[in-house]
Amino acid sequence: MCGIFAYLGPQNNASEIAITGLKKLEYRGYDSWGVAALDREEIAYYKKVGKISAYSTGDHAFNPSHLAIGHSRWATHGGITEANAHPHFNSAKSIAIVHNGIIENYAKIKADLETRGYHFVSETDSETIAHLIDSHLPTHTLEEAIKLTMSELEGRYAILVIKKDEQKIIAARRGSPLIVGIGKQEFYIASDIPAFLEHTNQVNYLDDDQMVVIDHRGPQYFDLRTNSPVEKRLITIDWLASTAEKGKYPHFMIKEIMEQQETIRRAVEQDNDEIQKIASAIENAYGTYLVGCGTAGKVCLAATYLFSRIAQRHVNFAVGSEFSSLQHFIKDRSLMIAVSQSGETADTLEAIRAAKTKGAKTLAIINVKGSTMDRESDFSIHLKAGPEQAVASTKATTSQLAILTLLAYACTGQLAEGKRLLLETQSQITDMLNPRYEDHIRSLADLLAEVESIYIIGKGVNYAMALESAIKLQEISYIHAEGFAAGELKHGPLALITTDTPVIALISNDETRQDILNNCQEVKARGAYVIGVASENNPVFDFWIKVPDAGISQGLVNIIPIQLLAYHLGLLRKNDPDMPRNLAKSVTVK
Ligand code: G6P
Repeated sequence: MCGIFAYLGPQNNASEIAITGLKKLEYRGYDSWGVAALDREEIAYYKKVGKISAYSTGDHAFNPSHLAIGHSRWATHGGITEANAHPHFNSAKSIAIVHNGIIENYAKIKADLETRGYHFVSETDSETIAHLIDSHLPTHTLEEAIKLTMSELEGRYAILVIKKDEQKIIAARRGSPLIVGIGKQEFYIASDIPAFLEHTNQVNYLDDDQMVVIDHRGPQYFDLRTNSPVEKRLITIDWLASTAEKGKYPHFMIKEIMEQQETIRRAVEQDNDEIQKIASAIENAYGTYLVGCGTAGKVCLAATYLFSRIAQRHVNFAVGSEFSSLQHFIKDRSLMIAVSQSGETADTLEAIRAAKTKGAKTLAIINVKGSTMDRESDFSIHLKAGPEQAVASTKATTSQLAILTLLAYACTGQLAEGKRLLLETQSQITDMLNPRYEDHIRSLADLLAEVESIYIIGKGVNYAMALESAIKLQEISYIHAEGFAAGELKHGPLALITTDTPVIALISNDETRQDILNNCQEVKARGAYVIGVASENNPVFDFWIKVPDAGISQGLVNIIPIQLLAYHLGLLRKNDPDMPRNLAKSVTVK
């Protein structure tokens, strides 16, 4: 949440470079934005309420500068105003900071500073950082002042700092991601890689309680706890810059939906020995616990059904934010599987750390190579889906499902068979995602564009996908949507069904099929408009979305038309499918 970006180098349009970088991080926050640059010996800044994508190069006349920091905000403390937009300053405006995260003890620090005469101009927790650094400056260097400030702050954060007469950028992190991009005599810092991928794919990751000082000679890293220098490994990111662009598509969401024509294949092309090793860890574990947030959480729930069916294994599941209340059952022989696109989600990360504290082993199934979860887990499996930039997860979801299906097969010694089936699923998806199919879904979106509520029902793995469908429809269409286990309808939700209430049924061709068709009859008898997502039509359907008969992968396949439906509903309702209101992609605050 919140995107931060910095540039230092020979080019003299640092603010515009920062703005271009921030636009690629807009999925992390789009309430307001701002940049600050060293302008001769002063700090010049520019802030705006609204989306940074609305800015075009040249809209503001920036003076030449070789060094700038910027921020795209997702509000936590304080409303969406220019005063609350970053950067924030000390009173003399000689220090500028941008901040991602939450300073939990800011109220106390702010009160202390106010009694010492410091004057605050925003309602944010972030402004505290600028004044606190200032309070240490008379007797310390900038580096020392930042170190002292970091030692006083509580919470999770990433900060960038510049000072008016120092040609350097200082960054520090505890909890929120920061990545340093190393170009040719030019340097970048950002919350995520796509921000600078067009300039460099050589990166260093900053770890918690580390600080980096970057001047024209390059970065120097320090451990804030030991106050000693740290050596960093240079990591090459194997994403092409073009994969972080929309290309021929109007939105990232539709681009990423369409990329599912090949992402399953990439997900299952894993090293067999590595997958087998992880499968053994699952088999030998004294309890396996899957943890994820949002869509990744629904994938974890789906995996409990997949492991039960394919591997006859019980795996547990907890939503990331709930894990701390459930962690007491974790033992040192347990295994935690964290599922996350970004590898940075605060609650999932905290769950990994809690499991590690108990001595458990951890596996991260993540898309972003080098992310915090990747670095902190005992094992990692990479989705290899390429950057996912729409806030709503699509291609990462199906890749996660594919990998968990593969692991379940590996647990029964049938890895090759699992791969074969998933590659077959891939070719079915490739055939399905054609323009005629999209038109058909668009015609359903036309029918549903004005409805008040949509209910989605499923059984088994389709129950998890019904919950995921509800998330997709809520976040992109803003229509009230809820997913239910089909068999639970009679225990309450049936009371919500009246004439023409749309009910989407996600159906597999297995033993659950007849039950859910019966449930469709029950809602239809109460007036519902039944939309069947199934490989075969049925008289009970008022509208049929045909999907290939994908066997064990049916849940994975069934979610794809719902992704398309959410996208087209969003467009019809004039919403921005890539940046749903109030949401952000990488939830690095709790
Ligand atoms: C946010 C995103 C979702 C995502 C969830 C977990 O809510 O909008 O798409 O599922 O975070 O993110 P992660 O990166 O851990 O998968």
